[in-house]
Amino acid sequence: MAKKKNIDMIIIKGNITLKESMRVIDNGGVHTALIVDNDKKMRGIITDGDIKRAIQRGVDCAEMVDKVMNREYKHAFVKSNVEKVKSIIIDNFITGMPLLDEHMHPVDFLLLDRNKQLLYYNKRKRLEHRLQKVLVIGGGGYIGSVLVRKLLKKGYKVTILDKFIYGKESVADLKGNPNVRIIEGDTRHIEDVSNAISDADSVVHLAELVGDPAAALNPQLTQQVNYLATRIIAGVCKYYQINRLVYASSCSVYGASKNNQLLDESSTPNPISLYAKMKVASEDALKELQDQNFQPTILRFATLFGVSNRPRFDLVINTLTAKAVKEKKITIFGGNQWRPNVHVADVASSIIAILEAPISVVGGQVFNVGSESNNYTINKIGEMIKSAVPEAEIINDECKQDMRDYKVSFSKLNKVINKKKWISIAEGIKEIKKFLQKHPKLNYQDRKYSNIKFLGEENNPI
Ligand SMILES: NC(=O)c1ccc[n+]([C@@H]2O[C@H](COP(=O)([O-])OP(=O)(O)OC[C@H]3O[C@@H](n4cnc5c(N)ncnc54)[C@H](O)[C@@H]3O)[C@@H](O)[C@H]2O)c1
Repeated sequence: MAKKKNIDMIIIKGNITLKESMRVIDNGGVHTALIVDNDKKMRGIITDGDIKRAIQRGVDCAEMVDKVMNREYKHAFVKSNVEKVKSIIIDNFITGMPLLDEHMHPVDFLLLDRNKQLLYYNKRKRLEHRLQKVLVIGGGGYIGSVLVRKLLKKGYKVTILDKFIYGKESVADLKGNPNVRIIEGDTRHIEDVSNAISDADSVVHLAELVGDPAAALNPQLTQQVNYLATRIIAGVCKYYQINRLVYASSCSVYGASKNNQLLDESSTPNPISLYAKMKVASEDALKELQDQNFQPTILRFATLFGVSNRPRFDLVINTLTAKAVKEKKITIFGGNQWRPNVHVADVASSIIAILEAPISVVGGQVFNVGSESNNYTINKIGEMIKSAVPEAEIINDECKQDMRDYKVSFSKLNKVINKKKWISIAEGIKEIKKFLQKHPKLNYQDRKYSNIKFLGEENNPI
């Protein structure tokens, strides 16, 4: 039997539904499926964009694909001039085009790589998803603002949907960038979500009320923003066949672990705070909505540290380092607790790696995000700060205890994204120290750098 080629993955007949075609497109990773007749001759092309636009026009995704397919498609023949092929792809803003033999049978699919060199689909070893447009919900936040810049650097078009609760400084320099669309809106409003999603390939949902203390301020508000709005976002994605949704969960779902064991994705969640309980509820809602097409990926981030375009000084490593630098004195509460930690830039690059990985590998999966080399006790973190800021005094207060205590395994993620280097806590501490020295007037205690301070005020904007 002839060996299956990649091209066979994206060839379909005209009598399958739009929903089935979308599954083929998602698995093929090139935004396109090729429709052939019974003699395997090309009849037309369908893209994920065609399907999404059709649904928005009111077409049911149970309709047959040949009703929507594009019959006037660009194509090349085996002997076509390579330069001409490249310019057709570039000039028409298309992902690629089928390569046909003399009988009009598709034999390959031609794409361009990042250096605009011709790529043959059959030669690709792993069918990574070729992203074009990513919607980052919460793109003005601590993680989002770093992620958006990394996506832009890689050539993606980005839409940001954010209520900009903490202000718009983090996106000020992005205004006027032709590759960025900034939408000020609220995830609790279905029309804001649906408008922002309209032209996205993939969605990353980062917009919540973040941190145990901030989420505890107003439980009903937290339920709306951190759980009910996740259901809205997932429902809109699923309806419009945007099947790649990355949801930002947290390792805090593990709560207090027993016997110092290493927790992995199969460990039973044991959420302590309302914040962590809403993460578990949102994860469950996504699993419930999952079907053969809609395949969200849940990422449980370790506690973050590092500098961002929206600095946060309410995260343990950032706060302690700032206190050590500015006040020369830090107090560590109940320092024997283990915590997983991860740098914000590593979280952003992990999200991109997940977005680009084949949906068959990451769809419907849960991954812890971080590196075991950054599992540390708070005491040890204090020692690392002391070595970077030797003039600071460290005080240990064993009376006040934070119940969270857990060590996390990250091997599942690292098998999939093969990320070699993770920024260490020591490097992060140095980076924060340098940032504060570069901005001597920055008041790290300003309310805008702390979610709890900001949201705790009466006139907060949410
Ligand atoms: N920072 C961490 O240590 C950490 C750890 C684990 C998980 N996470 C998760 O990662 C995600 C992002 O966290 P972050 O640190 O970037 O937080 P952040 O507070 O800096 O950013 C959240 C962003 O969401 C926006 N937002 C909040 N509610 C909104 C609403 N109703 N509509 C529209 N926008 C809204 C805010 O304006 C803000 O820009 C969150 O889901 C958080 O729970 C963060």
